[in-house]
Amino acid sequence: MPSLTWIGKDAVLNHHLDVPYRVLEKKYDFGDGEPGNKIIHGDNLEALKSLLPEYEGRVKCIYIDPPYNTGNENWVYNDNVNSPKIKKWLGQVVGKESEDLTRHDKWLCMMYPRLKLLQKLLSNDGAIFISIDDNEQANLKLVCDEIFGAGNFVGELIWKKKQGGGNDSNNIVVEHEYVISYAKLLSSFSLGLDTNYQLDEKLYPFEDAKGKYGLITLDKASIQFSPSLVYEIISPSGEKLKPRIVKGKQSCWRWSKEKVSKQYNDLVFKNGKVYTKYYRPLGVTQRSLLVDTVYGRTESGNDDIKAIFDIKPFDYPKPVALTKHLLSIATDKSSTILDSFAGSGTTAHAVLNLNKQDGGNRKFILVEMEDYAETITAERVRRVIDGYGEGKNAVEGTGGSFSYYELGPELLKDGFINEDVPEQTIREYLYYTETNHVLPQSNNGHPAHLGNFEGVAYYFLYNKDETTTLDATFLASISEKADRYVIYADNCIMPQKFLFDHDITFKKIPRDIRRF
Ligand SMILES: C[S@@+](CC[C@H](N)C(=O)[O-])C[C@H]1O[C@@H](n2cnc3c(N)ncnc32)[C@H](O)[C@@H]1O
Repeated sequence: MPSLTWIGKDAVLNHHLDVPYRVLEKKYDFGDGEPGNKIIHGDNLEALKSLLPEYEGRVKCIYIDPPYNTGNENWVYNDNVNSPKIKKWLGQVVGKESEDLTRHDKWLCMMYPRLKLLQKLLSNDGAIFISIDDNEQANLKLVCDEIFGAGNFVGELIWKKKQGGGNDSNNIVVEHEYVISYAKLLSSFSLGLDTNYQLDEKLYPFEDAKGKYGLITLDKASIQFSPSLVYEIISPSGEKLKPRIVKGKQSCWRWSKEKVSKQYNDLVFKNGKVYTKYYRPLGVTQRSLLVDTVYGRTESGNDDIKAIFDIKPFDYPKPVALTKHLLSIATDKSSTILDSFAGSGTTAHAVLNLNKQDGGNRKFILVEMEDYAETITAERVRRVIDGYGEGKNAVEGTGGSFSYYELGPELLKDGFINEDVPEQTIREYLYYTETNHVLPQSNNGHPAHLGNFEGVAYYFLYNKDETTTLDATFLASISEKADRYVIYADNCIMPQKFLFDHDITFKKIPRDIRRF
């Protein structure tokens, strides 16, 4: 299988493992309602890592709209990658002035570790959708093949972003962008129907309790002829009907005699002919072209944000219609949705609108690194929740809530547990490193107990003010029976043989705390 190489790739292949684990510090809650929605201010590389203990394998839909690397965006590459090549770039703004061979290398170095973490966060039945344009589409596709697996490629949507105009381009006026999609596991994933697709309503002129329908004759000359399919059907009024001869060719029924007798009530008798019904579908299988205005345009994205801020505080926000459409085909009512390049917060806007429309309880997680995370991203979400404006331009509130976070201190600093980190956060981290699962809400009552997983009981004997010791007194305080015990403490004075005989693994704090 072909794969892409670029300058700096070796340095970033496993960079996601070196990213420090930082604690998410809640700054405030906004609104009423069930908790769960999050807006995080910070670099998404660190924020995604911080989300792993709670969300690994639990995000149903990721939508990202990263910098397209147009050369005009001034995005900053400042990941702390320990490689001389990358160090040379550190903190450099990737803009027009760096229109050199390394602009694409830098973009790929930026995206690679983030996509790695995003892949971990997806649930087995989940998928990622990535907006992109021609600047990086081809590179992104190859990198995603590598990270998500070419076999998990769901498809590529082509979104028409603008209508007409623009004869100023050199050869081709580009009116579209792409949305590339990969499933975590294609065999466990299914995309919902597109209910926006304009069906030809003339095809469904009738209606009954099951919905709108059209009619199709039961006899057909175009199907494989079989003498057993030529027989008499008697209508409720006693009319005797046989398949017609069409242009000199004997047609036959599409249904066998048995099926007709079983489903006689599904037949429609009209003007001397027999018909079956076909119902108007709820939607169609997603088409690759998103051309209709129902999927929004760049212009409608501007209008969406202007309706909330009166001005346009953000360039090129995606339309709510596009994002909402993607969510409508890729989520269910209780899904968690992540956007780690949140910008003006369109994804949260779309989640709140969709929940309001269908009574859903989807949750969003947004990450935005710029300072406008509070003044634009969170402010937009507040105004969507509460409603904004008056009169005919008023935007009705959706209700809902969110919590706002900053990236807090690193959990492990210079090899030691950071004493400023709350013990509960350390417990969550440890349990996750041991089991890849979320720390259970309650334990067995023992203060050091974290939880049990697959027969193993995990204990964390920690006191930030004094040294802890795994000794006979501590062991005597454990009353539960487990197949095996993993116990973290500063020291252990029990003999190796005793630990071995009692299926106890001692892990030294901080030496044996795993980084991920
Ligand atoms: C193209 S915009 C997204 C626009 C968004 N879809 C909307 O509709 O408003 C990309 C956003 O990603 C943010 N971003 C870029 N690099 C980031 C990083 N490393 N961590 C978090 N956010 C980042 C940028 O600041 C920018 O706001």
